[in-house]
Amino acid sequence: MHKLTMLGTGLIGTFYTMALHGTRGRDRVHAVYSRSPERLAKFAAQWGIPKTTTDMAAAINDPETDVVVVGLPNHLHEQAVSLAAQAGKAVLCTKPLARNAAEARRMLDVIEKAGVFAGYLEDLVYPPKTLRALQSVRGGALGKVLWVRSRETHPGPHSDWFFNKELAGGGAIVDMGCHCIEIGRNFIGKDVRPVEVMCWADTQVHPIEAEDSAVGLVRYANGALGQFEVSWTFRGGMDLRDEVSGTEGTIWLNHWLRTGFELFTTAGESGYVAEKTESQTGWLFPVGDETGGLGYRDMFVDMLDALDAGQQPRETFYDGYVVNAIMDAAYRSVQSKRWEPIELADWRGQAEAGGQVELKDYDVDYYLIKEEKLPDGRTKVILKHKASGSISQKVVEQH
Ligand SMILES: NC(=O)c1ccc[n+]([C@@H]2O[C@H](COP(=O)([O-])OP(=O)(O)OC[C@H]3O[C@@H](n4cnc5c(N)ncnc54)[C@H](O)[C@@H]3O)[C@@H](O)[C@H]2O)c1
Repeated sequence: MHKLTMLGTGLIGTFYTMALHGTRGRDRVHAVYSRSPERLAKFAAQWGIPKTTTDMAAAINDPETDVVVVGLPNHLHEQAVSLAAQAGKAVLCTKPLARNAAEARRMLDVIEKAGVFAGYLEDLVYPPKTLRALQSVRGGALGKVLWVRSRETHPGPHSDWFFNKELAGGGAIVDMGCHCIEIGRNFIGKDVRPVEVMCWADTQVHPIEAEDSAVGLVRYANGALGQFEVSWTFRGGMDLRDEVSGTEGTIWLNHWLRTGFELFTTAGESGYVAEKTESQTGWLFPVGDETGGLGYRDMFVDMLDALDAGQQPRETFYDGYVVNAIMDAAYRSVQSKRWEPIELADWRGQAEAGGQVELKDYDVDYYLIKEEKLPDGRTKVILKHKASGSISQKVVEQH
């Protein structure tokens, strides 16, 4: 059993506490920190949390807690993690780990030097559907993964600080690209080195300095491509989708607007429908289990199980650092309008590129390029001659 310190009582502090307290599990938030005494009192009453404080260091140093959860705005992650490391406590930090790779690397360094357990709270690799999809991919069901497209778009964040480039470290890329990039890494293979990024970003709608829309491509050493699509300008709620394409198969995941629960109402819903829902009437897409569906529950199970077992969780501070390095390259690409190399001073994965797709033999003389059943029932094969390289086709007998 763990007693946790929760830093932050905003949207993510709420979801995290819901996930931890939502079942009959033994782990409890024991102390909570927020700037506002009024908010603290309400939050503590709602979730049955015994200790509250407006002093961040006091919350971290609470003698009864052994795990610190960082659910604060991005500019406070490093400070909170350093204090937790100094206190010798396990620390779990929300996404993005940091505002840039330099900050992330310092955070990685501080927890490694202190020898404390640390986990990167990237919930969107933990939804049950994603965990199941990863199992299929790792079992070889898709062959070699070639392309992972991950999309997160909604009409914009719920608090002022997200729109402040200095406090957040950027705009939609740093806020949501971090999810999409890490989803891509999980499917492609975390030990495959991300090499370079090409990214478009713009401020299309909001009167802010940071980007509110971006599309980026991350090229990996084995030739695979991660694609992220992020926007704070999308209307209609929160669109969360992933597509994985491999040499032997395809996976499509839809996490939010089409979860198998669609509700039409003229009378309207009276309260909260689901995260980032824009209306109370018409067709609505409520979510039966938000904390489960977004991965928060499985994420905390993994984190706390790993802590108990003395192992690494699925998502570590090192992963957070790699994601920040990819985002830094994306920002450079937005400026240069070119592919930009990903600078990873500390690379812990495979040195080799690896992963070439094997050519398929048709017979001793030919490789098979493609086979297709035509509308008239014939089957056509397209071949490449091994010696000359010439490409030809033939219609083969039906079976
Ligand atoms: N899916 C996810 O994993 C997910 C979702 C949302 C947010 N987040 C992350 O969680 C963190 C917090 O985001 P949020 O959505 O909860 O934000 P929020 O604005 O809803 O809440 C932020 C919390 O931090 C406190 N805070 C704000 N500014 C502060 C300051 N200067 N000093 C001290 N406390 C301050 C607020 O009072 C509040 O308790 C961010 O890093 C964000 O990227 C993660």
